[in-house]
Amino acid sequence: MKTSIKKGQNPINLVQEWLEDAQKKGIPDHNAIALATSNQNGHPNVRMVLLKEIDHKGFIFYTNYNSTKGREISHTSNVAFSLHWRTLKRQIRVKGSSEILEAVKSDEYFYSRPLQSRYGAWASKQSTILSSREKLINEVAKIALKLGKSPPRPEFWGGFRIIPSEIEFWNEGKFRIHDRFRYIWNKESAEWDSVRLYP
Ligand SMILES: Cc1cc2nc3c(=O)[nH]c(=O)nc-3n(C[C@H](O)[C@H](O)[C@H](O)COP(=O)(O)O)c2cc1C
Repeated sequence: MKTSIKKGQNPINLVQEWLEDAQKKGIPDHNAIALATSNQNGHPNVRMVLLKEIDHKGFIFYTNYNSTKGREISHTSNVAFSLHWRTLKRQIRVKGSSEILEAVKSDEYFYSRPLQSRYGAWASKQSTILSSREKLINEVAKIALKLGKSPPRPEFWGGFRIIPSEIEFWNEGKFRIHDRFRYIWNKESAEWDSVRLYP
């Protein structure tokens, strides 16, 4: 188990390692994160999304920019997410700020998706009221007829990158003496500081 704090360690890489461990274990939806945003009154809102990629800057997920989460992020870019793998007895928590992903990366991911999912992205006015399930199914069919076999990425759909400011790792210990450590991005030194915390 990699639980020791190493000075100079990049915690983004450690998240990647833990995710890979979860994937190797065959944990279903091993990359599902509980993502918290907040509205203009500071009221938090949480939902699951899939963490699709980790790059050197941060954590990438895809969604509808006009959805509730998209609109909340456009007001307040501060977000947080957590990951938990019960069988690995591990949790990760991240705090950070979101930015819109480069269009070229969103295009690349959009075109890698199955055709039906691309039609779905066009048809779903995510988070708004839908009068019936049939209406959505009809709209997907209409979009398919209209856009044909290679629909472009809608402008209202794409990725966000979460740039982390804090990343915390938790590993279950015997008798609930857990191991918990946190990395905090130090803007002045441009390095990650790390501290161990009481569990
Ligand atoms: C396991 C799981 C993964 C999900 N992944 C995504 C995702 O990657 N992107 C997305 O927009 N919604 C995803 N959803 C749906 C969201 O949880 C949510 O219902 C939707 O995005 C609308 O949220 P909002 O109204 O807060 O914007 C997922 C749901 C589950 C249960």
